[in-house]
Amino acid sequence: MSVRSDFRSDTLTRPSAAMREAMARADVGDDVLDGDPTVRALEEYAADWVGKAGALFVPSGTMANQIALGAWTRPGEELVVERGAHIVNFEGGAAGYLHGLQCVTLAGAKGALQADEVRAALRPENIHLPDTGLICVEQTHMASGGRVISLEALSRVAEVAREAGVPVHMDGARLANAVVASGISASEFGAQADSVSVCLSKGLGAPVGSIIAGDEAFLVRARVLRKRLGGWMRQAGIIAAAGLMALRENVERLAEDHHLAREVAACCHAHEGLWAPSDDVETNLVMVRVEHPRFDAATLVAALAAEGVKVMPLGPDVLRFVTHLDLSGADLETLAAALARILGEPTTC
Ligand SMILES: Cc1ncc(COP(=O)(O)O)c(C=O)c1O
Repeated sequence: MSVRSDFRSDTLTRPSAAMREAMARADVGDDVLDGDPTVRALEEYAADWVGKAGALFVPSGTMANQIALGAWTRPGEELVVERGAHIVNFEGGAAGYLHGLQCVTLAGAKGALQADEVRAALRPENIHLPDTGLICVEQTHMASGGRVISLEALSRVAEVAREAGVPVHMDGARLANAVVASGISASEFGAQADSVSVCLSKGLGAPVGSIIAGDEAFLVRARVLRKRLGGWMRQAGIIAAAGLMALRENVERLAEDHHLAREVAACCHAHEGLWAPSDDVETNLVMVRVEHPRFDAATLVAALAAEGVKVMPLGPDVLRFVTHLDLSGADLETLAAALARILGEPTTC
C-alpha cells in the first residue's frame, strides 16, 4: 500500500506553495564573495530571535552543532553532555573525529542535565587530566520524547558553567517547539547558553538549513569552522528565504503539532499493550512503548506500513511518532483505523 500518513520525522515536510514562491522571488548574491542579502536577513532575524549578537546560516543541524564544538574547544578536551543527546549519539562520532574531543556522558533527568552532576564532571586543573572544554544541552530533548528542558534547570547548569569558566552550547534543533510549549521566549532560553543552534527544516517546515548563533568573538571562530567544513554556500538566499519565512510564520502553529501529538498518544494508549499517556507528551514527539503479546516495535512498524502508516522504531520496544505540518486530523484517523485493524481493538480513538 502507498504511504498515506508519514509520522517518522518532522524533517519530512515539503515547502508550501507560498514558501516556494518566496524562494523563487528571493534576492540573492554570492554569499562567499559579496554576501547574499537574503542570507543576511535570515541571520539577523534568527540572531535577534535567540537573543544573540549574530548568527550564521549553515546547511544542517549537525553542521551547526559541530561548528560550535570546534569553535569552543581544543583537541584533547572534554565535552560534558547528557547521554541521550543527539550530539553524541547521532552525529557519526564527529566530536572525536573532527575535533579530538572525548565525551563525558551524564545520566541527567528526563533529558535535563543536573547542575550537581555537571559540577562533579568538571575537571580540576591538573597536568594529568583533560580540560573540560564545553557543556552541551539539548532543547527540546529528542531521545526523551521531545521534552522541554525547564528554564530553571538550564540556568542552574549555566551558573555552574559560568563559575567554572566553561562555555555552554545549546542544541536547539527544536527550540521553537520548546518556546511554543512553555510560553518562554527563544531569547530567554538562549540566554542560558553561549551558542545556540536552531533547525529550520524540522517542525518549522523549511526544506533545508540551520542557524548557529553566538557573540562576535564566537562568530569569528565559527566562520572559520563553517569554511573548513564546506558549509559556506553561494546563492543560498534561495533556501534562506524559506528559512526566514519558516521562522517568521511557522513558530506559533507548532501548537497544532503538539495537540496532534497528544491525540496520537491517546490513540495508541487506548490499545492494550501500547503505552503512551498523552499527558506525558510535551511537544511534537510521541514515544510509544510496545508491550504486546503478538507485536514488538519492528513487527508493528511493518504492520502499520502495510496499512499506509509510517513510523520509526527506536529500539526493540519503542515506536517514535513525530507530528509536523504535513499531517492533520485525517492522518490521525488513518492511524486509528490502521491500529484497529492490526490489533483488533477500538475502532475509534
Ligand atoms: C536534537 C537534534 N539535534 C540535531 C539534529 C541534526 O539536524 P540535521 O539532521 O539537520 O543534521 C537533529 C536531527 O534530527 C536533532 O534531532
